[in-house]
Amino acid sequence: MLLLWVAVVAVSALATPAPGAGGQRRGAVQAWPDAPNVVLVVSDSFDGRLTFYPGSQVVKLPFINFMKAHGTSFLNAYTNSPICCPSRAAMWSGLFTHLTESWNNFKGLDPNYTTWMDVMEKHGYRTQKFGKLDYTSGHHSISNRVEAWTRDVAFLLRQEGRPMVNLVPKKTKVRVMEGDWKNTDRAVNWLRKEAVNYTQPFVLYLGLNLPHPYPSPSSGENFGSSTFHTSLYWLKKVSYDAIKIPKWSPLSEMHPIDYYSSYTKNCTGKFTEKEIKDIRAFYYAMCAETDAMLGEIILALHQLDLLQKTIVIYTSDHGELAMEHRQFYKMSMYEASAHVPLLIMGPGIKTNLQVSNVVSLVDIYPTMLDIAGIPLPQNLSGYSLLPLSSMFKNEQKFNNLHPPWILSEFHGCNVNASTYMLRTNRWKYIAYSDGASVLPQLFDLSSDPDELTNIATKFPEVTSSLDQKLRSIINYPQVSASVHRYNKEQFIKWKQSIGQNYSDVIANLRWHQDWLKEPRKYENAIDQWLKIHSDPENI
Ligand SMILES: *[C@@H]1O[C@H](CO)[C@@H](O)[C@H](O)[C@H]1NC(C)=O
Ligand SMILES: *[C@@H]1O[C@H](CO)[C@@H](O)[C@H](O)[C@H]1NC(C)=O
Ligand SMILES: *[C@@H]1O[C@H](CO)[C@@H](O)[C@H](O)[C@H]1NC(C)=O
Ligand SMILES: *[C@@H]1O[C@H](CO)[C@@H](O)[C@H](O)[C@H]1NC(C)=O
Ligand SMILES: *[C@@H]1O[C@H](CO)[C@@H](O)[C@H](O)[C@H]1NC(C)=O
Ligand SMILES: *[C@@H]1O[C@H](CO)[C@@H](O)[C@H](O)[C@H]1NC(C)=O
Repeated sequence: MLLLWVAVVAVSALATPAPGAGGQRRGAVQAWPDAPNVVLVVSDSFDGRLTFYPGSQVVKLPFINFMKAHGTSFLNAYTNSPICCPSRAAMWSGLFTHLTESWNNFKGLDPNYTTWMDVMEKHGYRTQKFGKLDYTSGHHSISNRVEAWTRDVAFLLRQEGRPMVNLVPKKTKVRVMEGDWKNTDRAVNWLRKEAVNYTQPFVLYLGLNLPHPYPSPSSGENFGSSTFHTSLYWLKKVSYDAIKIPKWSPLSEMHPIDYYSSYTKNCTGKFTEKEIKDIRAFYYAMCAETDAMLGEIILALHQLDLLQKTIVIYTSDHGELAMEHRQFYKMSMYEASAHVPLLIMGPGIKTNLQVSNVVSLVDIYPTMLDIAGIPLPQNLSGYSLLPLSSMFKNEQKFNNLHPPWILSEFHGCNVNASTYMLRTNRWKYIAYSDGASVLPQLFDLSSDPDELTNIATKFPEVTSSLDQKLRSIINYPQVSASVHRYNKEQFIKWKQSIGQNYSDVIANLRWHQDWLKEPRKYENAIDQWLKIHSDPENI
C-alpha cells in the first residue's frame, strides 16, 4: 500500500504549485488561494537520531520511514531548550528562550506573543490545534517550579522516581496511550468533517504526549514521570538484540553538572544490564506507538485526497536519554536529549533528501510563513528551512540561508547551572553559568558520537573560539545572572504566599524521600541561599 502512495505523492507534487513559488504574491494579505495546507505533528521526548540511526535496526517506524522516503529529513535538528515548555515556547514564537524568558516548565510565553499560527490565520489560513500545547506560563506541578528555582541551593535531593518499566501483557493492545489516540482521532475527524471541503488552505497542529514516560505512582504521588509503559503489541516491534547498552563514565569522573542531573533523577544507584535494556526497549516501543499516530494522520490525508496539497511536518520538543549518560528524561545537551526528529514532506519538497545542516526548532516559525508565502519579520531567531528542502530554487527568495550553528539553552530543574550549547558542523560546545566557575564541555561528534570524552582543555583554541562565537550570539553570563535573580524572586514570592505552612509544603514536594530525613538541614541550606545577595558578583 505504501508503494501506491509513492505514485500519488510524486505525480501530484509536480502538478501542485510549490510553497513560496509565486514570488510576486508575497506580501498579499490573504494566503494565495493555492497555498498548500500544513499539518504539524509534534510529539514529546522523541530522540531525533531514531529517524536515521539506529532507526529501523532497533524499532520499526514505518511512517517516519515513509516521510523520509517521500520528503526531506534533517539529520541534525535540535531543540532550543531541552524541556517541554521552553522548547515549545521557542517553536511557537520563533524566538530563542532567553528572548522570551521562558525559563522553565512554569515560565513559558507571555500571552502577548504572536505565534506563526496567529500570523497564518491573519493571512487567510483556517487553523486548528489538538492535543498537547504547553508553551504558555502557569502550568506543571509546584514541585517542578520550586525545583527549578532552587537548583543552585547547596543541597542534593532526588526529585524524580527511579526509571522503571511496566508492560501490558497483551499482544492485541494497540491503544496504550489513550489520551493521544483520542486527540489523533479528533484531528482525523476534523480533517474528514471540516477541512476536506475548505476553500481556503488550513494549518492543523497535533501535539502528542508520547513517547514521554508515564507517572510512577509507586514512587509516591508527587513524583515525576519515570515509567516506560507499553504493551506486547508494541514491544514486538523492537529488536532486543540491536539495543545498545550505553557506556557510562565512572561516577567520580562525571562532569559535576551531569552528576547533579543523574543524582536528582535517582540514577546514581546500581542498574543491571537487563534493567537498562528493558528501559530502552520500552522507550523504543513507545516511539513505535507514536509513529502509528503520525501514520493515522498521513493515511487520513491520503484517503481524503489531501496529501498532494498538504505539507506534513513531524518533529518533537526534545529527546529522551533512556539511560544514556546515566540519566533518563531530557534537560541535557547530550544528543539523546537535545537532538530532535525533523521531517518535511509534501508539494514542492524534495523527496528522499537527507540534509546534514544544523537546524533547530525556532526555524519552524519562518518555515511556516515561507510555506504560506507570508513575508518574514526581521526579528526572528530562526531561518526558513525551504531553501534546504524545496524543489524550486529561487535565488532572490532564498538568500537568507541558515547559519552553520544552532543555539540551545537550559535554565530549568534537574540541572544546577544555566547551560548553553553551540552546535556547529563538527563540534558541540557546552558552556555553563557565568562561563568561569564551571568547566565547559567540548565534544567532537565526528570522532566521539557517544560524547564520552570532553576535549575542552585538550583543544583550548577551539574552545575559546567557540566560546567567543557563543558570546556573540548571547551574552550568557548576563542571562545566567538574570535567571538567578528571577529564581530567587519567584521563590521568595512563593514562600510568602504560603506563609505559615511553608515548611510543610516544601518538605512534601517530590523530593520528600530525602528531605524528610533531615528537614532542618535542607531548610537551612535554603535560608543560606536566600541570604546571599543576588547581584551578579555573587553568583
Ligand atoms: C510582552 O510583555 C512583556 C511584559 O509583560 C514584555 O517584556 C515583552 O517585550 C512583550 N513581548 C511582546 C512580543 O510584545
Ligand atoms: C531511588 O532509587 C533507589 C535505588 O537506587 C530506590 O531504593 C528508591 O526507592 C528510589 N526512589 C524513588 C523515589 O524512586
Ligand atoms: C464535501 O464536498 C463533497 C462534494 O461536494 C460532498 O460530497 C461531501 O459530503 C462534503 N463533505 C463534507 C464533510 O461536508
Ligand atoms: C552542582 O551539583 C554538583 C553535585 O552536588 C556539585 O558538585 C557542583 O558544584 C554544583 N555546581 C553548581 C554550579 O552549583
Ligand atoms: C518583531 O517585529 C514585529 C514587527 O516587525 C513586532 O510587531 C513584534 O512585536 C516584534 N517581536 C518582538 C518579540 O520583538
Ligand atoms: C499545609 O500543607 C499541607 C501539606 O501540603 C496541606 O495538606 C495542608 O492542607 C496545608 N494547610 C494549609 C492551612 O494550607
